[in-house]
Amino acid sequence: MRVLIAYSSRTGNTKKIAEAIAEAQPQAQLASLPAEVDLDRYDFVFAGLWCDKDQPDEEWKKFFSSILSKKKPCAIFGTMGSDPFGEALFIVKADNFSKVQKPYK
Ligand SMILES: Cc1cc2nc3c(=O)[nH]c(=O)nc-3n(C[C@H](O)[C@H](O)[C@H](O)COP(=O)(O)O)c2cc1C
Repeated sequence: MRVLIAYSSRTGNTKKIAEAIAEAQPQAQLASLPAEVDLDRYDFVFAGLWCDKDQPDEEWKKFFSSILSKKKPCAIFGTMGSDPFGEALFIVKADNFSKVQKPYK
């Protein structure tokens, strides 16, 4: 299986997670966003985000939109500063990013 691990990272936390996934998936390709990536070359994509203003950052959103438009199987991972089960929790939906007001465990 051809695997891509693409991540957006400003200060390096999400990059570390991406690298840990890559250690477990040695055949996978790592890419730091923004990147010129041909999604057709991959069967599965890990998409790593960091949280900015309670949202994934814009580069990641753009990348995720292309994953969605190609209906590419994917797994999302991310890092953030606040409580991941607190008020800032967002869920990534097919076409928008909305906050969940109540803790979601
Ligand atoms: C400019 C900026 C804005 C941030 N905004 C949020 C935020 O709104 N909510 C949050 O939970 N964390 C926020 N954080 C914390 C980051 O999401 C967190 O440190 C994350 O792990 C950074 O990932 P990175 O090291 O891969 O860039 C912010 C950090 C920065 C630098």
